[in-house]
Amino acid sequence: MTVNGTAITRRVPARTHLIDFLREELGLTGSHAGCEHGVCGACTVRVDGRIVRGCLTLAVQADGRRVDTIEGLSDSGELAALQDAFHRRNAAQCGYCTPGMLIAAQDLVASHPGATREQIREHLSGNYCRCTGYQAIVDAIEDVLNEERKK
Ligand code: FES
Ligand code: FES
Repeated sequence: MTVNGTAITRRVPARTHLIDFLREELGLTGSHAGCEHGVCGACTVRVDGRIVRGCLTLAVQADGRRVDTIEGLSDSGELAALQDAFHRRNAAQCGYCTPGMLIAAQDLVASHPGATREQIREHLSGNYCRCTGYQAIVDAIEDVLNEERKK
């Protein structure tokens, strides 16, 4: 597979989940393992441009595919506007949900730039945050969407 633009070849047990492969085999610990059964969204990564749950995806399912994690998306600058807005709006506290939240939010910014607050909440409904109460996260994403609309 290609991870953050780098070709990776490994032999792994068939039952290895993508999140464990990324974290333990490649040392990409920005993606978090929370519930590990598809509920919290902390493990969100992209495979071939689509967001997936790293805990519900097997590493072998990413064979031959392009995987993007929070590390690669941060380095490329793709998330810069959202990261800046999260910082400005105090939308991260412990930060455990933040990588998955940013990737899910960027998916919305790219696919639905006209999203309302309600639609932002709907899009993030698969990403849990135990700290912020979500208000600041929605504010941050709304800021970015408003900036996008001005362009
Ligand atoms: S760790 Fe994957 S959804 Fe919670
Ligand atoms: S900032 Fe702590 S879980 Fe979201």
